[in-house]
Amino acid sequence: MATAANVDVQLRYERIKPKIGARVLNSKEELLTGELSPAILDLMEEVGVVVFPELHLTDAEQVQFSNSLGGNAEELAGQNQDAVFKVTLDEKNQQKNVVEYLKGSLFWHIDGTMNPTPIRASMLSAQVLAPEGGDTEFANTATSYADLSDEQKAELEGLRVVHSLWASQFYHTPEPTAEQLADWQSKGEAEIPLVVTNSAGKKSLVLGNTAHYIRGMDMKDSQRILHGLRDFATSEPYVYRHVWKVGDTVMWDNRTSLHKATPYDPYSGRMMHRTIIKGGEAWEVVKG
Ligand code: OGA
Ligand code: MN
Repeated sequence: MATAANVDVQLRYERIKPKIGARVLNSKEELLTGELSPAILDLMEEVGVVVFPELHLTDAEQVQFSNSLGGNAEELAGQNQDAVFKVTLDEKNQQKNVVEYLKGSLFWHIDGTMNPTPIRASMLSAQVLAPEGGDTEFANTATSYADLSDEQKAELEGLRVVHSLWASQFYHTPEPTAEQLADWQSKGEAEIPLVVTNSAGKKSLVLGNTAHYIRGMDMKDSQRILHGLRDFATSEPYVYRHVWKVGDTVMWDNRTSLHKATPYDPYSGRMMHRTIIKGGEAWEVVKG
């Protein structure tokens, strides 16, 4: 039962840029009641990335907050659903093969494009910062799609893209061993539309380092389209760069955002704790 004190809690926020981002100003205590969660999800859907400055969530609080927003989905490598996932490039603090995959986070990507149901949102909290670099950039692929011309939109209609983890790994490891490549390729592939439409009718681009090629198209044309769009979608108006403070939490709409870390020393101690919010619907929403 809501207490009288909680009834009046309102979501307070300020927009960051016209085409991406908002900063939520409520206290940790207000956020952890869960009462603001529906409004936070609506805000995220509208702006793409939501910043919660210096909340200093404990791991248990981050899981609680994520659960109030729709649940902490199963993470990579069968990790316990009740735990946070450690995002670090230091093998002392994370499994070696997971560190390999995480090197892909230095290039524009969407999390889990090979999952049948996309991850609705991802949430990161900064535990330890790198002394230099290690910002995180976010790009809103709904507002960039909206700004394409009608001719460009028509050109993209119906195109389907094969996404694979193994393609993304070539960005940082161009000469893998045969064993590495076999491991990457064992993670599977998925084919999804280049432009997806959610159940509310909002369209966005699905791009990033896992977007390998456009089905049925000449490689040169496919690369021209995928890289041309990524270049446009990550241009200034659509991008927010978060410069972290310890204790910051940031959540992004993983269906409609690209993100990447800016370069940092893997052994700097940088440590982020991640939770993910379960997907509500498939990439391809079947019209009823
Ligand atoms: C992630 C990710 C970026 C960063 O956790 O999914 O891409 O800045 N992180 O660590
Ligand atoms: Mn990521």
